[in-house]
Amino acid sequence: MTIYKIVVLPGDGTGREVVKEGKKILDIVSQVFNLDFEIVDIPCGVEYYKKTGMEWPENAFQLCRDESDAILLGAVGPSKKRPLEKPNEGSSMLFGLRFGLDLYANVRPAKLYPNVRHKISHEFKQIWDPKNVDFVVIRENTEGLYTPARGVLSRDENVEMAIDNRIITKKGAERVIRFAFDLAKRRNGAPVDNKKRVTCVDKSNVLQGCLLFRRVYDMVAEDYPEVERDYAYVDAFTQWILRKPECFDVAVMPNMFGDIITDLAAVLQGGMGMAASGNIGDSHGMFEPVHGSSPKYAGKDVVNPVAAILSVHMMLDWLGMKKGDKKLNAASIRIEKAVEKVLEEGKILTYDLGGNAKCSDMGNAICAKIKELE
Ligand code: IPM
Ligand code: MN
Repeated sequence: MTIYKIVVLPGDGTGREVVKEGKKILDIVSQVFNLDFEIVDIPCGVEYYKKTGMEWPENAFQLCRDESDAILLGAVGPSKKRPLEKPNEGSSMLFGLRFGLDLYANVRPAKLYPNVRHKISHEFKQIWDPKNVDFVVIRENTEGLYTPARGVLSRDENVEMAIDNRIITKKGAERVIRFAFDLAKRRNGAPVDNKKRVTCVDKSNVLQGCLLFRRVYDMVAEDYPEVERDYAYVDAFTQWILRKPECFDVAVMPNMFGDIITDLAAVLQGGMGMAASGNIGDSHGMFEPVHGSSPKYAGKDVVNPVAAILSVHMMLDWLGMKKGDKKLNAASIRIEKAVEKVLEEGKILTYDLGGNAKCSDMGNAICAKIKELE
């Protein structure tokens, strides 16, 4: 039997708690679907940095690059809110993986599951038709404002000027836009009309890089006549996803727009506790909940593990397609079904979903459901 080696990077705070639930899920599906996972846990993050002076062990990157089949990350971040000394502090490991493994497509589904309330306002507790929110943001993940093309000008030891360059290349745009169209081909279209659609989100009315991004989008779109073209300026897009999320299927955008839009989109799917993601390149995949290490809740076993568990679901889907192993895909489908059922039943829910179950209770309930659905 093939052994799949999964490198697990729990990180800090609640990252560790939700990853623990993610590992339980791997354990259950390995039993139910007769799969063999070798889990390699690597300590990392800000806490690890405080102890060792490094964000992760010396051989960790090589292990991820050369020996892992997939990577699962919790969250990294400081234990308290404090001013950072320099950009990327505490997340150079995250960027080390995204850039170092060339994980150019950051796949972030915004999907509202049954019985989950959106989080637009505490007062506004109506339940939406969950079918209305089911789109995927593809965030470009290796360029844009996140490239290390930045610096400061200091005079007399005072920082007088700071500059961040935004890099958009034809190659970088083309591969991520192609990824978005390929994904749209496999999906069922936007909820409103079941049309396969890729929305190009940019600011091409002002920015050169965005104009290039849009031109490349038009070029790539030629190869996908079955997918509808759609365009939105990013400022307007923030409105549209709140007002008519059902019109969107796949949306592709430069790096920082995707970072911002996916926090906003998480509101539509019940909050950060529900937002999963995959960082995908041509040869590697790293999967992580979109949320951070939430120091306020760390150590209390109360946060929602669903984002991490759905990240495991995405990981197995990706790995199954990559390896051509149908058992992995079946396991991936089962995980999502189990999540859906537990949410639908509404008996075991964490605080953010209106319940008072613990993080581990919810993980256990989803594990039990995976077995029960056999
Ligand atoms: C995310 C996070 C990271 C990012 C931070 C932690 C650097 O906000 O994954 O969205 O900006 O990419
Ligand atoms: Mn973010």
